[in-house]
Amino acid sequence: MSAVPKPRLEFQLMEIADLEAVAAAEQRIYPFPWTHGNFADSLAAGYRCWLCYQNDFMVAYAVVMEVLEEVHLLNISVVPERQRSGVGGAFFEYLFEDARSRGANRMLLEVRPSNESGRALYRRYGFTVIGHRRDYYPAAHGREHAIVMLLDL
Ligand SMILES: CC(C)(COP(=O)(O)OP(=O)(O)OC[C@H]1O[C@@H](n2cnc3c(N)ncnc32)[C@H](O)[C@@H]1OP(=O)(O)O)[C@@H](O)C(=O)NCCC(=O)NCCS
Repeated sequence: MSAVPKPRLEFQLMEIADLEAVAAAEQRIYPFPWTHGNFADSLAAGYRCWLCYQNDFMVAYAVVMEVLEEVHLLNISVVPERQRSGVGGAFFEYLFEDARSRGANRMLLEVRPSNESGRALYRRYGFTVIGHRRDYYPAAHGREHAIVMLLDL
C-alpha cells in the first residue's frame, strides 16, 4: 500500500479583502463561528493570520497571536471538503516553522473536549494538556470548558 501524498499547499498572510471569504468558510465549519469582526480585530491587532491555498482555492486558515517567545493558536480551520486529507497537518508544520523562525519556543491552544478531530490532530503533533478553562466556549446547552494544550517548539 503506498503512502498518501502530501497535498501541495501555498500559504499567504490574510488581508482585509480576504475577510468575507474567511468569515463565510468559518460559518460552514463551526456551529459557533467567529464573526467577520473577530477576524478583522485579529488583523487590526497584528496577529499573524494565514490563508492556505490548494490549486488556487482557499482550503484553510489560521490565526496566531505572538506573545514574546510564546505563540497562541487562536484558530485553525480546514474547509469541510478538504478535512482529513492532510491539510491541517501540513498547515501545522508550516505554522511551527514560521513561529520558530520568529523566535518562539512554545505554542499554546485551547480546544473543546467535544472536538475529537482537533484533539486527535493536536495529540498527533505532540501537544500535551496543561490545564482547563472553565465555561470558555458557547455551547448548545450553556457553556463548554476548554482544554489548554501546549507544545514545545
Ligand atoms: C481539526 C482540523 C484542523 C484537522 O485538519 P485536517 O486537515 O482534517 O487534518 P489532517 O487530515 O491533516 O489530519 C492530521 C491528523 O490529525 C488526526 N485527525 C484529524 N482529523 C481527525 C478525525 N476526524 N478523527 C481522528 N483523527 C483525526 C489524525 O491523527 C490525522 O492523521 P491521519 O489522517 O494520518 O490519521 C480540521 O478537521 C478542522 O478544521 N476541523 C473543524 C475546525 C476545528 O475543529 N478546528 C480546530 C479548533 S480547536
